[in-house]
Amino acid sequence: MVSSGGSDGGGGAYCRHRRKSFLLICALSLVLLLYSNSGGREETGNRVIIKSLIFPFSTGSDDTSADDASLFLVHTAGCKLRHMDPFSSVVDTFLRDGAIHACHEPLVTLVTPTTTPGESRLVVSGALLKKWKYKGASCCWRRITRRTQSPDKYDNDADYGVDADNEKVTYPIFPPVINEWTLPTMGSILPCKSHNSHHFSIDTKNCGKIPGGGNGVVIPGDVQYVKVECHNELKVQVWKDFFPLVPSPRNLSPGTKTKAKFWDEQKLKSNPNKKTSSIFPPSVLVIGIDSISRLHMIRSMPRTKEFLTANGFTEMKGYTKVGDNTFPNIMAAFAGMTEAETIARCWPSRHTKLDDCPFLWKNFSRMNYVTAHVEDSPGIAIFNYDKTGFVLPPSDYYLRPLMVAEHQAGRNRHRFGGANDCLGGGLTPTRVLLRYIRSFVREVGGVTPFFLLSWFTSMAHDDFNGLKPYDQDFRSFLSSILSSVGEDTLILFISDHGYRFGAFRETFLGFYEESLPFFFLRMPPRLSSPSWSAALRTNAARLTSPHDLYATLVQLIDLVNNKNTSSPSPYGTSFLATALENRTCESSAIPEKYCMCGVSPSLTTSSRLSAELGVFIVTQINADLSAQNLTSLCSPVNYTTFLYGRQVGEGEVWNGVGKLEPYRDVLIAFETSPWEGRFEARVRIRDNAAMTLLGSVGRINSYAGKSDCITHYKMKNYCTCKNLWEAEVKKREKKKQEKKKKG
Ligand SMILES: *[C@@H]1O[C@H](CO)[C@@H](O)[C@H](O)[C@H]1NC(C)=O
Ligand SMILES: *[C@@H]1O[C@H](CO)[C@@H](O)[C@H](O)[C@H]1NC(C)=O
Ligand SMILES: *[C@@H]1O[C@H](CO)[C@@H](O)[C@H](O)[C@H]1NC(C)=O
Ligand SMILES: *[C@@H]1O[C@H](CO)[C@@H](O)[C@H](O)[C@H]1NC(C)=O
Ligand SMILES: *[C@@H]1O[C@H](CO)[C@@H](O)[C@H](O)[C@H]1NC(C)=O
Repeated sequence: MVSSGGSDGGGGAYCRHRRKSFLLICALSLVLLLYSNSGGREETGNRVIIKSLIFPFSTGSDDTSADDASLFLVHTAGCKLRHMDPFSSVVDTFLRDGAIHACHEPLVTLVTPTTTPGESRLVVSGALLKKWKYKGASCCWRRITRRTQSPDKYDNDADYGVDADNEKVTYPIFPPVINEWTLPTMGSILPCKSHNSHHFSIDTKNCGKIPGGGNGVVIPGDVQYVKVECHNELKVQVWKDFFPLVPSPRNLSPGTKTKAKFWDEQKLKSNPNKKTSSIFPPSVLVIGIDSISRLHMIRSMPRTKEFLTANGFTEMKGYTKVGDNTFPNIMAAFAGMTEAETIARCWPSRHTKLDDCPFLWKNFSRMNYVTAHVEDSPGIAIFNYDKTGFVLPPSDYYLRPLMVAEHQAGRNRHRFGGANDCLGGGLTPTRVLLRYIRSFVREVGGVTPFFLLSWFTSMAHDDFNGLKPYDQDFRSFLSSILSSVGEDTLILFISDHGYRFGAFRETFLGFYEESLPFFFLRMPPRLSSPSWSAALRTNAARLTSPHDLYATLVQLIDLVNNKNTSSPSPYGTSFLATALENRTCESSAIPEKYCMCGVSPSLTTSSRLSAELGVFIVTQINADLSAQNLTSLCSPVNYTTFLYGRQVGEGEVWNGVGKLEPYRDVLIAFETSPWEGRFEARVRIRDNAAMTLLGSVGRINSYAGKSDCITHYKMKNYCTCKNLWEAEVKKREKKKQEKKKKG
């Protein structure tokens, strides 16, 4: 969840800063272009339209029907968003059958009531105790506690401190800065010298025995996080596990007790025959899955999709991301901020706590809603990746300390995603979260209204095929949620963006999907009104964004408070009010870089111009390397191979002398030497063939192990370290010779 804050939006400035050299480059390119493509000129009056030049990529036959509305998800004056086939043959090579990781049969399980609130027990498996390995084992449980620091004096470990373990753990708790690109291939993490490692001492006190036999032990009603340990007769630890529990708000904390009391009084004040649902304002339940595009959701979750369609969910088909990774999109949706505003107000440095950020769930909390925040992968959690996170828990229920404890104990596990970790009595993190949320709605639903934000990351963040095996789990989960709290709850089933790296992302479809996450919303039936339903239906086929989700939540807050807010969204429109037909990416604060309006799906081929564009872009990369004084460490980049390209937009701009001048925006992806760097960029080609880079040049394959000689976060994208490349060349030569010898 690395922010793109530092790296985006620099394109225009980039060109301005180096205007002199670029003018020269642009002029040179123009000469080259005119020279090499002179066959494509057409004289119309006194204006030269260089068609074959300006349309570098063939537009294909299906574009002749560009006005056929059925080909579009969004077909408005402001945005034409093409329908693309989720099952395009391009995807076939990336799809594999997967399965949910099979966990070992648990020695200790958690038994909770399934429908009504009540006590939870931990029970030891009698059958497993008969096995040789566990013979004579005795198990105990202990509380895990969050080690909360002072908001006035905190360090980077503030959201990483837990007291859980009786083992010595000596790796850093605050992960070093790494680029997410490096994740899939990353094996180990470098120790981080500047931060404390936490050592735990052996402590067998405070561990409550779990008796053998079917009844086990009842966990006290205020316990949120539990660690279980089992030792055999030789005092060797043979089992270890971590369980999250959901105490009733009546028991959890002074804050939740006050909220529960408030709503008890509301119930007393109202007609005793009234249903709870008509006393409580609507709850909000956010089920978020990281990195899933709309098309990939269709591919991976056919059963869930069918359920959603049949049960009153509306799919926002034009929902477009507004920032590179999770954090800026979440900030737009739940704090109403653009990326620049987020950096200015909430995240000036990675050492800033996020406690003081104006998240909307605080407003819900002030309205006596019980709040919860539930995530799996703690190393790349939304508010913690490259950030300090929260010094004080951000919500009444906060799953993070449990997940931190579990990850800290898993020395050899994947420290970032953890899709195949096992905890909670033989469950993957995904299933632990699903069970937790079910318990939450069971324990909290009848007592207070709630706002729950969940984010599932481990499952699919690093695995293109990780979501599909969970299709049925999510379908059953949503079905159970609907039958328990569906009447009173606004349910959002959403993602933040599509895949941002990996082989699929290096295709055109991968480019298209990255900007278009799936988004489903279901209004509580008791709030339905004809005008809102009509607006939802219309907006389903409009350009929308996380800013509109923010506006929707603000409207809900207003509704509950029965007032009109003084702070509406500056960028969005509530999903319950029809979005403007002429809405564009620009007018909706969707950065050009992520805008898919106007992107054409037609097949493309390489052309002479693609090479010109490639050369234009690598020249800029090289200029950037030298401007940053990195040319002694980093090799210059050469254009080698065209990967894909598209026209992604067109329009007219004032040319500065009172004349409208047409332009085309094109997308191009290509490979470079040395060491096969792959890049993607958007370029605006004006009618006079002058090119301008739009936004920054994106890196679409991993630079892991290639740019370690520098630390500059943005420049790592462009730097191929000379020393590392030399070593790589030697390695390749050696391999070649070995092959020769063998052959
Ligand atoms: C949320 O709370 C903040 C702080 O009290 C307030 O400034 C803001 O207007 C509230 N937002 C809404 C939509 O009520
Ligand atoms: C909010 O504003 C609208 C239009 O300005 C008005 O019709 C409505 O009555 C207002 N609602 C409240 C609760 O003030
Ligand atoms: C969009 O339509 C609205 C209302 O019809 C109008 O006020 C606004 O100027 C239009 N915006 C653009 C960019 O055309
Ligand atoms: C690059 O080096 C020059 C000359 O030493 C210096 O003036 C400039 O500030 C450096 N630029 C960066 C980005 O470090
Ligand atoms: C890149 O191109 C330049 C000249 O255009 C050439 O001298 C250099 O060797 C090339 N580098 C690589 C790594 O191909």
